[in-house]
Amino acid sequence: MRRIILYTGKGGVGKSTVSAATALKCSELGYHTLVMSTDSAHSLSDAFEFELGDEPTPVSDNLDALEVNVQSEIKKNWGVVQTYFKTFLSSQGLDNVVAEELSIFPGMEELFNLLRLIRLSEKYDVVIVDCAPTAGTLQLLSFPEIMRWYMEHLFSVGKKVAKVIRPVANRVSSVPFPEDNVFDSIEKIYSGIDRLSQILTDPRTTTVRLVVNPEKMVLKESHRAYTYLMLYGLHVDEIILNKIIPHEVQDAYFSEWLSSQSKYIELAEISFSPLPIRKLKLLRCEVSGIDSLKEVARELYGRDEDPTHVRIIHTPTSLKRSDEKFVLEIMLPFASKEELELFSKGDELAVVVGNYKRIITLPTTLVGRRIIGSKFREGKLTIEFEGT
Ligand SMILES: Nc1ncnc2c1ncn2[C@@H]1O[C@H](COP(=O)(O)OP(=O)(O)OP(=O)(O)O)[C@@H](O)[C@H]1O
Ligand SMILES: [Mg+2]
Repeated sequence: MRRIILYTGKGGVGKSTVSAATALKCSELGYHTLVMSTDSAHSLSDAFEFELGDEPTPVSDNLDALEVNVQSEIKKNWGVVQTYFKTFLSSQGLDNVVAEELSIFPGMEELFNLLRLIRLSEKYDVVIVDCAPTAGTLQLLSFPEIMRWYMEHLFSVGKKVAKVIRPVANRVSSVPFPEDNVFDSIEKIYSGIDRLSQILTDPRTTTVRLVVNPEKMVLKESHRAYTYLMLYGLHVDEIILNKIIPHEVQDAYFSEWLSSQSKYIELAEISFSPLPIRKLKLLRCEVSGIDSLKEVARELYGRDEDPTHVRIIHTPTSLKRSDEKFVLEIMLPFASKEELELFSKGDELAVVVGNYKRIITLPTTLVGRRIIGSKFREGKLTIEFEGT
């Protein structure tokens, strides 16, 4: 069965190293494996010491690696819309350069890379994804909402109606009307995003692993990332705690590092519980080339462990019926009550945590039911709907 594992985390924590080593292990276990980086600042080439390109390249038995060319993906997927959008913005009096910049959204690079991943994943047993540092990944999660806005506001008329309106609209309005190919591109992306969301939020196919270091700022950012990943319904099944200084290092110079690391290792264990934590020590030197990646893989998985096994399944969102009420539960670990907001409109519920908003389309059972209460306790948001 196809398995997708995404590695994300703060910049420099070891995402590419862990992705490459895990991919190598999977290939050794006999899985036909692809490792790809969705980050435009690729470092897989460095990890493998192998020049990678825009097509999957064999790097070892059973293992292909790929560094997606972001610009060409954007052009392929978004070029037509971008051209229209630029004309549209210019017709509104916007400077060409500004229009060019506005026609690309944050998170778009990651999105098109992941759409490519979905297409490629059909051919492999396992796909390991070396994601951009956390901020990039999280921008991607908000992208479906941006696309929805596009669909509803800018392109709400749809292709059929556009055919009728276009000749009139172009005569009376200074705003050019989008051609059919603009609608086609948007529709294609929209259905791609739909499929992508389904695949990414299905724990039988996809899990996310957070790579962290035992340091204050790294842990803080990872806590936030975990909250947002849960908000968008992704399944985190493991934390990789990397760059742990081994205790055999007795040099006095490192004594403070050792004690601060042991404090943050404990914090990671307590705060992420019940998520399993996999530890990786700081090796003697940088990790580069297949042999040192194999050493990392041995440290991580021993001889026999299979990295594709899902380590824990928790349900980010669940719906229960109790005492004549329907109860929707959303896990939001590390969130605080003050930053939470809830809105409901028609069949949609918007959950806002800080700067991130997720719009949940309510299951038919809940549509039209009044919200009678909500509370947030111990990382769990509970929303009660009337039962009768
Ligand atoms: N356990 C380790 N022992 C020794 N060196 C390590 C270890 N893990 C990672 N490194 C080194 O740390 C550096 C950063 O690692 P890596 O490139 O994997 O991080 P990254 O999270 O992918 O970074 P970026 O956010 O820039 O993509 C690299 O030089 C890598 O070789
Ligand atoms: Mg990297």
